Amino acid sequence: MVSVTQHRMPRKRTYLICPPEHFAVEYAINPWMDTATPVDTELALKQWTGLRETLLSLGHEVHVLPPEPGLRDMVFAANGAFSVDGTVYGARFKHPQRTAEAALHREFYDRLGWRYVAPSETNEGEGDFTYLPEAYGGLVLAGYGYRTDPAAHAEAQEVLARPVVSLHLTDPRFYHLDTALASIDDSNIAYFPTAFSSASQTVLRQLFPDAIVAADADALAFGLNLVSDGRNVVLPAEATGLAEQLAAAGYRPVPVELAELKKGGGSIKCCVAELRP
Ligand code: ARG
Repeated sequence: MVSVTQHRMPRKRTYLICPPEHFAVEYAINPWMDTATPVDTELALKQWTGLRETLLSLGHEVHVLPPEPGLRDMVFAANGAFSVDGTVYGARFKHPQRTAEAALHREFYDRLGWRYVAPSETNEGEGDFTYLPEAYGGLVLAGYGYRTDPAAHAEAQEVLARPVVSLHLTDPRFYHLDTALASIDDSNIAYFPTAFSSASQTVLRQLFPDAIVAADADALAFGLNLVSDGRNVVLPAEATGLAEQLAAAGYRPVPVELAELKKGGGSIKCCVAELRP
């Protein structure tokens, strides 16, 4: 049998990131955070700079949101909003420690002149929403169980006019959708099935028969917390098995070291919001 590796085409992206200048673990709102473990903010900043340079070297446009003193988790820019076709569905954080971030993201989109819709329901932006423009004509996948209220899924569908598929997260270590599932191109995903209820696993198998299924070790290394342009897949360096699976499927893994931010319960995707004009 001849194996044919598909040629994957990258698509230029626009991203929003925020430097971890004020990053610290002073409260614990997910199982990865431990206030007793010291954080090296300088190291976090150095690793984050490596991520920014990687995104730039791949030819993407990268906006930087100025960090606000006191907002320790603001580096996790993915949580600030979710945009599709130039419409921004704003975030409304579950935990009071992060509430103030939403308005700072809103100001950013207002400056760009994008249509911003303020949410009534609790939701953490791209932490719990992802979009696949070429799947079923344009499909939103949405997670619930820990942060985002399922009512926000219906609200997002009304705001964005795209079908939203609700997926139930059932393992607290995978408290945001983007810790357990990622778009790897415009129509396919990689995911870790056991982070989801068995019904949601069935739904994902039906919608994405060709998905890349991650192993436990890679999922626990935050391997699925990745950013892909359709060809280049920027993922945590620790997720070596997933990198091999991606390469075998014709993608180009681009490993990045971001271990210091794992202390906050996040990795690459958490740090990167995609702007979809
Ligand atoms: N400490 C942050 C929180 O618990 C981490 C957020 C990670 N972001 C993400 N998109 N998964 O809210």
